[in-house]
Amino acid sequence: MTQEFKKIGSVNGELALPGDKSISHRAVIFSCMAEGISEIENLSNGEDVRSTLKCFSELGVKSKWENGKLIIEGKGFKNFNAPLNTLDAGNSGTTARLLTGFLSVQPFQSTLIGDESLSLRPMKRVIEPLSLMGAKFSTSSKMTLPLIIHPTEKLSPINYEMPVASAQVKSSLLLAGLHLEKETCIVESEQTRNHTEVMLGLRIEEKEGKRFIYSSHKNYPSAQNYFVPSDISSAAFFIVLTILAKKSNVILRHVSLNETRTGILKVLKGMGAEIEINNQEQSNNESFGDLIVRSSELHSLEIPKEIIPNIIDEIPILSVASVIGIGKFEIRNASELRVKESDRISALVHNYKILGLDVEEFPDGFSVGGAIQNENPVFESFHDHRIAMAFAVLSMFLKNGGRLANFDCVKISNPQFLEQVNRLIQ
Ligand code: S3P
Repeated sequence: MTQEFKKIGSVNGELALPGDKSISHRAVIFSCMAEGISEIENLSNGEDVRSTLKCFSELGVKSKWENGKLIIEGKGFKNFNAPLNTLDAGNSGTTARLLTGFLSVQPFQSTLIGDESLSLRPMKRVIEPLSLMGAKFSTSSKMTLPLIIHPTEKLSPINYEMPVASAQVKSSLLLAGLHLEKETCIVESEQTRNHTEVMLGLRIEEKEGKRFIYSSHKNYPSAQNYFVPSDISSAAFFIVLTILAKKSNVILRHVSLNETRTGILKVLKGMGAEIEINNQEQSNNESFGDLIVRSSELHSLEIPKEIIPNIIDEIPILSVASVIGIGKFEIRNASELRVKESDRISALVHNYKILGLDVEEFPDGFSVGGAIQNENPVFESFHDHRIAMAFAVLSMFLKNGGRLANFDCVKISNPQFLEQVNRLIQ
């Protein structure tokens, strides 16, 4: 489906966006693992989290919706049914990586599959360390999905320093570790999003600039109620929309303010964005609050290397903020962008070239600048939800607007994106 976006004037009003995708995946996984009933409020309504829930229903977990909350009847420690079908992670890297850790300690065989994009994404990063723990897999030489996970007698804990800054890898190994008596220790030198350790209350030590995170059977989750704060990565599109529009003021309610996710606020504020935070609260050890965002004049800012893992999902929309607000953008040290739902470096480069801008591509990033030449652009989403929403926002600031091919992939993280935009431009 190709979606058209017209040039907008101002945006005003307030939104309460659905729950954070990363926290939602974890709330579902921990609820399914726990014994008994857990309730989840404000769960992400995107396809990705639905994929996680569907995999667990194949493993015998029952769930139902009641008054807008998801009620999950968790199976308890190693009490799952052997799956009769393949487990389909869809488009979701978080589902695939986290479930690989969880499934590698179960007493049955399972097969994980995914869609075309996910089947190209690297699984070696979890297969290798889980194999060091004794897990057994069958996969192609490329180490991508489909992946057969064999039952093993007993896994052993590891001390593992992550060679790549990835919260999915960290979480996969910590989840396997929850099934072992002795402690598994995962070491990260660049801080990645910390929802797994925060929500499970894991022990963390900081030494010599590194973080050591420990998990063992003692930390196995118990049933509880969750409130999932709104997704800051989805909010980022509306934050940038408001900043770039004239005479605009938008309130975004109960947005996740987890310190490993707020890099986008730091960078945008550093560029001159007016963003105020109100009503800060906590739930399940995760903090959240209301964001008040206003039209702002932006200036350029160099993006430091250390903040990249903290803004990794927001780089597409951050580039739009810079290109429209300042006229140029550059990012380096971000090669992880190449292994997301699409190769985001080449997707961004492709779309900026469509505008006729001067673009240079690097192995670990790109730069863009110059004057817009094409007044009737048709952008390509590459079936990547964040590329689709980034260029939807950009289109709303072009003289004649813009069109987006394959726009329906926004359902991966935010199926209501269009309705939310329309509410603000009324
Ligand atoms: C996620 C971690 C990030 C992020 C992804 C969700 C998670 O990936 O890009 O959208 O929920 O753990 P990394 O594993 O590369 O950190």
